Formats: sequence, structure tokens, C-alpha cells
Amino acid sequence: MVGSSLIVAPSILAADFARLGEEARAVEGSADWLHVDVMDNHFVPNLTIGLPVVEHLLKATTLPFDTHLMIEAPDRWALGYAEAGSYNVSFHVEAAADPVGLAKNLRAAGSKAGLAIDRDTPIEPYLEILPHFDTLLIMTIKAGFGGQKFMPELLDKVRTARRHLASGHLELRIEVDGGIAEDTIEAAAEAGADAFVAGTAVYAADDPADAVRRLRRRAEAVVAGG
Ligand code: DX5
Ligand code: ZN
Repeated sequence: MVGSSLIVAPSILAADFARLGEEARAVEGSADWLHVDVMDNHFVPNLTIGLPVVEHLLKATTLPFDTHLMIEAPDRWALGYAEAGSYNVSFHVEAAADPVGLAKNLRAAGSKAGLAIDRDTPIEPYLEILPHFDTLLIMTIKAGFGGQKFMPELLDKVRTARRHLASGHLELRIEVDGGIAEDTIEAAAEAGADAFVAGTAVYAADDPADAVRRLRRRAEAVVAGG
């Protein structure tokens, strides 16, 4: 953690998968969390890594893991990622049979619990279960692939969530994921996000650590400007 009120979480989806440990360590001094995208070729068409790789990667870096499960049946699989030592485990509400029960189990296993909302899912039906969660991950693309174009219209969900949190005195992170880069992070911060996932914008840069710092500065300027 680098002591900012905002979270910047580089996504390893855009990293070199043959050097995941090194790629994680490259952002240790600048990032807050490492965003780890688990995809199962069922919930999304893409396939990435599973628990054995996550377990090994956890040993290769000091960064807290923000594990984003884009998988079917998270009720069955998510707990393993918490028990392995993830700081936060987010699962998709579209895939979960019992989101509140799973959130309780994740917290009992020592992890934060995250609710992820994909592009085509409205947020209103889930506002009332937010007290069971620590993070709300709002996709700003359709989940499944890195390098997609940011969809600003999805920030309406961020605004709705931020208003709801303020009125209910609820505390949780609102995290955005998808197409976050230097030219989009300000709009996301203005809408009320306070955690920012960035894959391509970090790992396609010549200097990933510097890319994280630049993203953070842009988001912080929005927050400071009130
Ligand atoms: C996509 C993943 C994202 C992905 C974002 O479904 O959840 O975390 O890495 O990649 P960029 O930042 O390139 O849009
Ligand atoms: Zn993600």
C-alpha cells in the first residue's frame, strides 16, 4: 500500500504470463493492489489462471491481491482464493446462487468480499445487499478481455452506487474495471469511483510503475478538486 485514499490496481491480464512474478514486483512500490483476473472459459469465453497459479503468485509478491473471479459457480470455488490469502475476492452477481452467503463465507475466511457487476446488469436490485460487501466492482466494459474501449455510460452505475452509499452511511470501495487509462480515469473518479483497475494502461507502458503513478495523479487531482 502506498498511503493514498485511492486504490490503483494493475491487472495482470495485460502482463507477460511467463513472468508473472516479475511483472507483479515491477509495480510493488507504486500500486496498492494487484488485480488478478480468473476466467474459466464458461462465465466468459476467455481462460486465464486458476487457484494453483494464484497460490504461487501470492508467494512472489508483497502486493495485496484483488482477485476478480469471472467464473461460473463462485459459491463453490471462491472460498479457495480467500483461504489462499487474497486480500479481496470479487465474484460476479450474475453467477452466484447466494451472494450474501458467499460474502459471509469470504469474510469468515479472512478476505474482503467483493460484488462484481457486469456490463448488462443493472445495479439497483443489489443496492440492498451492499452492507455485506467491502468492494463493489463495476465493469466499465463487458467482462472477458483486456484492451477494450471504456464505456462512459456505465459510470451511471457508479454514480447511483455512490449516492446510495452516501445516503446509507455505508463504507465500501467502488472499483471500476475496463478501459481505465489516463484519458478515462478522471471521468471514473468524478463519478465516484475510488479504486481503479488498469491492465493495458499499466502493462503495455514502457515503465509500468510510472504508469501507475500517472494514473494515480490524475485520479487524485479530481478528488482534490472536489
Ligand atoms: C477484463 C478484466 C479486466 C482487464 C482490464 O474482463 O476484468 O481486469 O484486465 O483490462 P484493460 O485495463 O486493458 O481494459
Ligand atoms: Zn478484472
